[in-house]
Amino acid sequence: MMKKQIKRYAFLLLIVYGTNYGQTKKYLDPTKPIEERISLLMKEMTLEEKVGQMNQYNGSWDVTGPKPESGSNEEKYNNLKKGWVGSMLTVRGVKEVRAVQKIAVEETRLGIPLLFGFDVIHGYKTLSPIPLAEAASWDLEAIKNSASVAALEASASGLNWTFAPNVDISNDARWGRVMEGAGEDPYLGSKIAKARVKGFQGERFDHTKIIACAKHFAGYGFVEAGRDYNSVDMSNSKLYNTVLPPFKAASDAGIRTFMNSFNTLNGIPATGNVFLQRDILKGEWGFKGFVVSDWASIAEMITHGYAADGADAAKKAALAGSDMDMESNIYVTELAKLVKKGSVKESVIDDAVRRILRVKFELGLFDDPYKYCDEAREKSNIGSKANNDDVLDMAKKSIVLLKNDKNILPLKKSGAKIALIGALANDKNSPLGSWRIAADDNTAVSVLEGMQQYKNSALVYEKGTDVATNKQSFLDEVKVNTTDFSGFEAAKKAAKEAEIVVMVLGEIGFQSGEARSRTELGLPGNQQQLLEEIYKANPNIVLVLNNGRPLSIPWAAEHIPAIVEAWQLGTQSGNAIAQVLYGDYNPSGKLPMSFPRKVGQCPIYYNLYNTGRPTDKDNNVFWSHYSDVEKTPLYPFGYGLSYTSFDYKNLKISKASFQKGEKIEVSVDVTNTGNFDGKEIVQLYINDPVASIARPVKELKGFELVELKKGETKTVQFTLTNNELGFYDNNGKFLVESGQFNIMVGWNSNNGLNSKFELK
Ligand code: NOJ
Repeated sequence: MMKKQIKRYAFLLLIVYGTNYGQTKKYLDPTKPIEERISLLMKEMTLEEKVGQMNQYNGSWDVTGPKPESGSNEEKYNNLKKGWVGSMLTVRGVKEVRAVQKIAVEETRLGIPLLFGFDVIHGYKTLSPIPLAEAASWDLEAIKNSASVAALEASASGLNWTFAPNVDISNDARWGRVMEGAGEDPYLGSKIAKARVKGFQGERFDHTKIIACAKHFAGYGFVEAGRDYNSVDMSNSKLYNTVLPPFKAASDAGIRTFMNSFNTLNGIPATGNVFLQRDILKGEWGFKGFVVSDWASIAEMITHGYAADGADAAKKAALAGSDMDMESNIYVTELAKLVKKGSVKESVIDDAVRRILRVKFELGLFDDPYKYCDEAREKSNIGSKANNDDVLDMAKKSIVLLKNDKNILPLKKSGAKIALIGALANDKNSPLGSWRIAADDNTAVSVLEGMQQYKNSALVYEKGTDVATNKQSFLDEVKVNTTDFSGFEAAKKAAKEAEIVVMVLGEIGFQSGEARSRTELGLPGNQQQLLEEIYKANPNIVLVLNNGRPLSIPWAAEHIPAIVEAWQLGTQSGNAIAQVLYGDYNPSGKLPMSFPRKVGQCPIYYNLYNTGRPTDKDNNVFWSHYSDVEKTPLYPFGYGLSYTSFDYKNLKISKASFQKGEKIEVSVDVTNTGNFDGKEIVQLYINDPVASIARPVKELKGFELVELKKGETKTVQFTLTNNELGFYDNNGKFLVESGQFNIMVGWNSNNGLNSKFELK
């Protein structure tokens, strides 16, 4: 320890006093306050060097190999050597990071260290469930821990910055990126945003913690018709009350970076949006970190029809507060010229650079640029047993039991003859999801492998049908199998001979995620047909769903006796699923997004507005509904079962009437009335029936996880304050209005005990 400190001190002395240029780099003095160090450094920077800090490149060449001799890679390399790069993305691994950092620190004039960013979305190499699945746990401690495992591994690989969490609220399952977020609800989304920020960043940046990035700012979850990269048009009320709260929560939690989004918001690209980035984020919220553009989103402002050319795009993005340019290569080519011409004030550049440098100083990179470059830690921290235990725990907590007629689950641990059917049951890739760049192929535990651990049941596996016909990757479109039925007969035979059939169906990993929008939300390809055929052979089916978004499965919901929502659960997927199926873990997850009956219902969400004609009470035609399907979701937000049952009684509110600002105490007694110990997620919803702007029929405003032994009762307490009762008007003003409030405390967004109180 002592030796390490001496070495470090010697290193600092070397860089403070023994510089390449014979000057004293006072900004390297760790005893000075950060803002002073930034000022000292900025005084020494040329305009080009400042602009360079605002430039982020993808490391698209072999960074430990020979230097690139042509094309854009050569340009990137040369700019790196000039000190015209502030950050790299996708360079990873200690050797690689060290090699690039060395160029920045030892070969450039000022030696400013780089930030190394990467999409650590739900784990680095050891993968957690996809974020939507984690959200289904409603378990903030577990989610925080999962982010902290991700940070541990990423930092051990040399990285210091993750492009996560994605805090985009979305209620449209057609949008493939719902897998990256926390679902449809801003309250749950805000709590999860905070948990993830704390998990990634910790309380201080020791070498196991990394910078987090709230994305995509803002509105991206509302791309029209769920088509990725599409435009967004929305009311201010929706923006303030639904979209912005999780971003605000991330900012309040001390997140250091934001990423803007590809979409336009009411005609203005988010990347060039003064209102979002300057007025709200850096103005009202006082955000002191920096904003990185999304990949080439500065250049895309030209395609959007908002900027004439590169120079115009650079100017608009910089003025709007986009501090760092990810891969457009536009800032580094245009910004200095714009400043020299007087089109952009140098103070705009200074503000951006100060923000970027602040993060680098806070991370401690000036004190030790190789802080994250520790080969020993890379070996021991990545893929460790402890990390696998943690992601397994998270995976079990993420599973949602959707149906369990006649208690077909849990499976008997011995003696049962089980047929396991479905290509996904034997798939070691799909559970890794689509954001798994650092994970090795085929490293997830499959359901087959998980179930094989239970050696006392007779398990027969049949694929039934392939889901895709091509090899899948992040860069390829998935081709779905609709023609090859050759595995059906063998699967039917296996089903007939079995006592119980477990079918694993759904999406392969690359069917959700970026650019994976879909207009069909049923089981892709031949799988629905397979399910129906198997059902004829043996209706005793447990359907395990693997998917990155809500699916519409009305036939299965009606016919199949047991349905388990197992999402894409990461590296330990198969073990988690098997432990739930065999009852070694009692599922407790609740849906963070509504499941539609039909895709035509999308967007569908629980916190909708009443409309003037919500029911068919007075008129059987002219009310707000569809002629061909019920208007309700198949499974609502907050829905999920357990192997045990819970009873809710004695909903109490501390008084009948309150003054604004007073604390409103709500309590309910929850009893485990079934035969298993279990965990229940108790949810509190409010409704403000008369307001100056119509409010949703229900809004989640509290939840508690409560563990109950068989027969046990616990009283669950909630506190409501102005924060929960108020809302934003169309000018972004937070209002708390007097009047009656209805509340519901229950087991999903559709069912619970009701009461009300008055706010004076
Ligand atoms: C584009 C995606 O929208 C964003 O989420 C991601 O972080 C960047 N690419 C970098 O990979």
